Amino acid sequence: MTQGKKSGGSGNSSRAGKGSSGRSYRGKAGLTVQPKKMRGRKPSSQRWLTRQLNDPYVNETHRRGLRSRAAIKLEQMDDKFGFLRPHMHVVDLGCAPGGWLQVVSDRCRLSQGKGKLVGIDLLETESVPDAEIFVGDITEPDMLDKVSAAIGGKADAVISDMAAATTGHRPTDHLRTMGLLEIALDFADEILEPGGIFLTKAFRGGTDKVLLDALNLRFDKVRHIKPEASRAESVEMYLLATGYRGAPTAENDEID
Ligand SMILES: C[S@@+](CC[C@H](N)C(=O)[O-])C[C@H]1O[C@@H](n2cnc3c(N)ncnc32)[C@H](O)[C@@H]1O
Repeated sequence: MTQGKKSGGSGNSSRAGKGSSGRSYRGKAGLTVQPKKMRGRKPSSQRWLTRQLNDPYVNETHRRGLRSRAAIKLEQMDDKFGFLRPHMHVVDLGCAPGGWLQVVSDRCRLSQGKGKLVGIDLLETESVPDAEIFVGDITEPDMLDKVSAAIGGKADAVISDMAAATTGHRPTDHLRTMGLLEIALDFADEILEPGGIFLTKAFRGGTDKVLLDALNLRFDKVRHIKPEASRAESVEMYLLATGYRGAPTAENDEID
């Protein structure tokens, strides 16, 4: 199912203002985050609430009408490495609630009518200007064809912030996210232009070397990035692979 092409606005209330990059996505007055009652909440919930309330990026997210805190991470990575360029063709894997879509739409200046942005998620994503969004699993057999048709052939960039629902058991969560990374890389192999880029969420941990080898076989350069907005205590990090050369043959691809 396709939804929400070329219409805008997030559903979240937010305060007017501009963020560190100076871009406001929404200008309504609104949200003030205040602790109401801490009593009766579990300690873990109290910690989460306190962290949220004291997190400048959460405030910035609300103030600028960004759909997710992750949007700020993408901006920070792009500020540093400048991989989002005007009029690119971009596929965003795991796009809900739409923060990365907002940033790509803006930074790739898609409102000028050139370039394409396609997002996919298991969950519904509210529409984002100049983005075409599919609801479904990226492994669905017809998903690649639908995305190719929507993007008009090949993509300049595949970006993936996909994360599996967490279990709280760190090794399991790690393996699940790494599994998604492999799936995202398979998807990229099918749709990336030579010279294209692949940005993906990853976790620091044991299986990374296999994936890194797979990336190094395909791309000219692979960088590890920990954007400032990614919490220091989190094992989350991102891999930015640039200069796609194509998938290797099955014999020398350790992932197969
Ligand atoms: C951290 S969120 C993405 C946030 C997004 N980058 C943003 O800025 O709004 C991860 C998303 O990956 C999606 N996801 C996980 N596995 C998926 C799959 N197999 N196919 C499609 N989406 C998937 C989840 O539904 C979730 O919405």
